[in-house]
Amino acid sequence: MLLISASNSGFSVRKASGERLNNPSGAKVSEDLLNKVVSLAKRRGFIFQSSEIYGGLKSAYDYGPLGVELKRNISNCWWESMVHAREDVVGLDAAIFMHPRVWKASGHLAEFSDPLVDCLNCGGRFRADKAPTLPPESPVTFRAGGKSDGDELQGTVSDRGYICPLCNCPNLSAERQFNLMFRTSIGPVDPLDKAIKKIVHGRMNAKEIRKTVEEALQPSAIYLRPETAQAIFVQYQNVQQSLGMKIPFGIAQIGKAFRNEIITEKFIFRTCEFEQMELEFFVEPGTEGDWLDYWSKARMQWWQTFANSTENFRLRPHEADELAHYASACYDIEYAYPWGWDELEGIASRTDYDLRKHSEESGSKLHFFDQQKEDPETGKPGYRYIPYVIEPSAGLTRGLLVYLLDAYTEEGGKDADGNDKIRKVLKLHPRLAPIKAAILPLVKKEGLPERAEKLSLEFFQSGINARFDAQQSIGKRYAKHDEIGTPFCITVDHQTLEDETVTIRDRDSTEQQRISASQAVQFVLDGLKK
Ligand code: GAP
Repeated sequence: MLLISASNSGFSVRKASGERLNNPSGAKVSEDLLNKVVSLAKRRGFIFQSSEIYGGLKSAYDYGPLGVELKRNISNCWWESMVHAREDVVGLDAAIFMHPRVWKASGHLAEFSDPLVDCLNCGGRFRADKAPTLPPESPVTFRAGGKSDGDELQGTVSDRGYICPLCNCPNLSAERQFNLMFRTSIGPVDPLDKAIKKIVHGRMNAKEIRKTVEEALQPSAIYLRPETAQAIFVQYQNVQQSLGMKIPFGIAQIGKAFRNEIITEKFIFRTCEFEQMELEFFVEPGTEGDWLDYWSKARMQWWQTFANSTENFRLRPHEADELAHYASACYDIEYAYPWGWDELEGIASRTDYDLRKHSEESGSKLHFFDQQKEDPETGKPGYRYIPYVIEPSAGLTRGLLVYLLDAYTEEGGKDADGNDKIRKVLKLHPRLAPIKAAILPLVKKEGLPERAEKLSLEFFQSGINARFDAQQSIGKRYAKHDEIGTPFCITVDHQTLEDETVTIRDRDSTEQQRISASQAVQFVLDGLKK
């Protein structure tokens, strides 16, 4: 008899959204690094669980004073490289609410769903495409009610080829599709009032009640966007015409997205509310292969620019059966998370799928007319076509997790008394670091705080996010700033009062050098350019 546990049947599947799940059976996560990062994130004010004092909401997180800086720094670096550094990309900041027909046209109402199943033994609810697989007819043993002291029962795997991930039972309900979009209603009228009246007056069975409620909800139904991309497609024409953009060109957007994920997991890796950084790059049909290669390489390079361990990023082409409903080809940029390689960004070739669908649904002609080119079919001057799209779509909040994992370091060393100690350092790229420089008076007296405050002011006036910090001993302050990733600690000591010099300590090497106080701002600015 086989006794399968959820953690020893590795496999890989695809979500309806197109995102690949690596070994979703729950391959033993190397909890250590993840736990350390989670703990540091809370302790030092990077990330808190949403509504924590009420017990917390598992699927949403709040970014604290340092987290918000880190998140902004990542998104600013993305925006600089994708928009400011290029002539062929412009930005957009669209509303989260969109016309419900957008989601009909895009296929999200019909396709954006996961298969849900109930276990008839333990009552657990899970995603069919995440359940442990076994060949049909395989014998399995499981415990009655899923309880460790329940009777041992035997069963066989059905033609569906999977079992309950919680108790291994093969007796399961039918699969039902669960749409991942959050639905709400717009307008001051409660749509349920009408349905309630109908239900109270009619003698309805469950099916009729559901139909009545659905009919009542539908007219005012509105969805929280599950990706930022659709707003870009819907505004393609406005942007192209108002700025006279010529193909190839792109529209970039950073913003919130919402998915009613059945399984939220691994801290901020998969949450119901998250942020994306997306580019829709419009190209001439026939050139999409080259542009897919171009963007895959460019995006890979971008992630690696800010990382310490570049070998932890890889580019993986999608198998044909992994492709989302809109994609003809796709690369994933994957990161070596503590639980294995998993997705960070997808670069998809979306063909003309979205613009064509929105053209059909809205009646607007979402074409591009190139006067300089001949129509390849007729040979006549002027080429009108629906552009093809290459879409680099990255998770901002997921990227933040990646950079925390990449930066977290523990180094052995000795304290002032010669005892072993572990130095925890967040080796964030200086441009990502929440605080760029800490200005530290050696002691809290003898005029040193006043001189340090004066220096802080110079930093503030230069637009550098620096912090004056006079709490605790200098050693503890260095340790704190190492742990939050501050690249430079500038100490104002007694010598400063004599010769206007300060010490500047490098976070990674811990080496200190003495420089003129008047050069401190420039020293940090130079360090941020590296
Ligand atoms: N417009 C295409 C699109 O949305 P996706 O692969 O579903 O494609 C893109 O999402 C990226 O968004 C992913 O690579 C991931 O980084 C991030 N992402 C997707 N779902 C997420 C979730 N539930 N929580 C956090 N990040 C998520």
